[in-house]
Amino acid sequence: MKRSGYCNEIGTHLIGEQVTVCGWVSSRRDHGGVIFIDLRDRSGLVQVVFNPERQPEVHRQAHGLRNEYVLQVSGLVSRRPPETENPKLATGAIEILVDRLELLNTAQQLPFQLDEEGVGEATRLQYRFLDLRRTEMQRNLQFRHRVMQTVRRTLDESGFLEIETPMLTRSTPEGARDYLVPSRVNPGQFYALPQSPQLFKQLLMIAGYDRYFQIARCFRDEDLRADRQPEFTQIDLEISFVGAEEVMALAESVIAAVFRDALGQGLSLPIARLTYEEAMDRYGLDAPDLRNPLQLIDLTETLRETGFKVFAQAAAMTGSRGERGMIKVLRLPGGAQLTRKQIDEYTEFVGIYGAKGLAWIKLNGPWQEDGWQSPIVKFFSEAEKAAIVAATGAEVGDILFFGADRASIVNESLGRLRVKLGKDLDLLRGAPFSFVWVTEFPLLDWDNESRRHVAVHHPFTAPMVEDRAQLDAPEMEGRFLDRVRSQAYDLVLNGTEIGGGSIRIHDPKLQERMLALLGIEKEEAEEKFGFLLKALDYGAPPHGGLAFGLDRLVAILLGVESIRDVIAFPKTQKAGCPLTQAPSFVDPLQLRELYLRSTHIPK
Ligand code: AMO
Ligand code: AMP
Repeated sequence: MKRSGYCNEIGTHLIGEQVTVCGWVSSRRDHGGVIFIDLRDRSGLVQVVFNPERQPEVHRQAHGLRNEYVLQVSGLVSRRPPETENPKLATGAIEILVDRLELLNTAQQLPFQLDEEGVGEATRLQYRFLDLRRTEMQRNLQFRHRVMQTVRRTLDESGFLEIETPMLTRSTPEGARDYLVPSRVNPGQFYALPQSPQLFKQLLMIAGYDRYFQIARCFRDEDLRADRQPEFTQIDLEISFVGAEEVMALAESVIAAVFRDALGQGLSLPIARLTYEEAMDRYGLDAPDLRNPLQLIDLTETLRETGFKVFAQAAAMTGSRGERGMIKVLRLPGGAQLTRKQIDEYTEFVGIYGAKGLAWIKLNGPWQEDGWQSPIVKFFSEAEKAAIVAATGAEVGDILFFGADRASIVNESLGRLRVKLGKDLDLLRGAPFSFVWVTEFPLLDWDNESRRHVAVHHPFTAPMVEDRAQLDAPEMEGRFLDRVRSQAYDLVLNGTEIGGGSIRIHDPKLQERMLALLGIEKEEAEEKFGFLLKALDYGAPPHGGLAFGLDRLVAILLGVESIRDVIAFPKTQKAGCPLTQAPSFVDPLQLRELYLRSTHIPK
């Protein structure tokens, strides 16, 4: 018999009609002879009823049904008795009185119940085909699908062409390790899986395709976290003849369409903006969550001459953007309540990010009345105390946390502390989704270990026009170019970077200079991305673009903790797949064909 539709499509409009539905037994209740089954498919549940008086034979068959058996049932849609209606269920007002049952398949006893709480992730991933039956996963993947379709439609309507780029390719410089694939027909040679389609999309602009997009799989061999997978998906796009403003406006229109179609919500545009410098100054991190009201305040100048040696020494440190010394304070209103134990825990926490301590002042009363409780207050002059109050607006009842060290350490440790306090003390305020663009990223970082500049975004990002001239000055020992700003922007949602991009360099001379500044010799540049450098010589239009992290975007919109919950078959923290047991050892013969021999000695 033909299926009438999905389970949750059987509504009151069908009362009195004969329908057929298919699905899995979600639960089974035996009520004094009458058997009730919740039948489940991807749409939801419908209650089917086996009544011994209606169909004795079918009722007898229903006795043998167990959870996750696969059924097709046909019967009469009827209104449930009022007291048994279930308003929580789309189909809660009706039930199907079964006349015909076909058992399509049985199922073994499950390793876990689908509605069981706290099942370990390893087990869930090992039995992912069962885990994916859970309502939450069904919702997540269907939502992801809707986001992808909205993106496709929106970009198509905006004149973008969807073009695929190779998976077997050369290394793309996004800063992670590559996944390599050995070539059988080219002994000793390897492809790299793309870390992003970056170079290909630039080539497409040079080729005149004007507006490109791709929902592209990217591969990065890096340390995994809740928001990082070794393979993940980007909504990748590139546009010719535009500046940063147009790319950001286009990105906003995509996000707004997703909000409208997938969430049924409006999004007020334009999205707020911060420069990188403002973000670092106030929040210590380049992906701030603006729902958190706490801010960092720079006291380097205020306390430069202070009698507290640790602070004075920090203030005197010089060097590149990250290395120069800094004193910052984080004011927590009402924080004087914190216990000694809590303060110790926060001190330990900032230690993870390299902070050597976490000086604090509890404002139990005005300083003029000796109301400050603190291990360091004895070092401060009255003028300094007054200046601290003026700069922070601190009031009685607050606590102040101090960081003094190299800028990179102070910003990261206090920036993370700000995030942690926001979570621990439930400080987040305002709308559930908070977007912000972070613009004017620096072009270069100084890496003290290798004693050279490295690209903050990637080597193809253009400098800001105003700062361009600085790049042409001759390089000198101790002259850091890390103040040069770039035309790069990140989109941040609730404190997570969900997208990033830039206007690219289209002038071959500038690209050459950039590579030279990065210490990439001509020969190496030629060998690694000669094809792009060559293409720049053949009429490259001005161009730029961006890539969203689809997994992150979807996870945040759904409010789930990990991007693993929005990926059908994700990897574990150790980059493994418990379902297929990938990665795995391979037959030595297969290796030999690839001209490889493993040096790994099994334990
Ligand atoms: P970027 O490296 O910033 O830029 O990547 C773009 C976005 O992809 C997401 N992302 C990840 N998501 C899950 N797991 C990962 N391991 C992972 N790494 C990155 C982030 C990030 O914002 N080619 C440039 C884009 C451009 O310049 O157009 C690029 O790849 O959300
Ligand atoms: P000490 O003089 O080492 O006993 O430190 C006094 C206080 O300053 C303690 O609360 C330390 O946690 C704190 N402290 C020490 N070093 C730093 C630092 N680099 N930044 C911020 N606080 C610090």
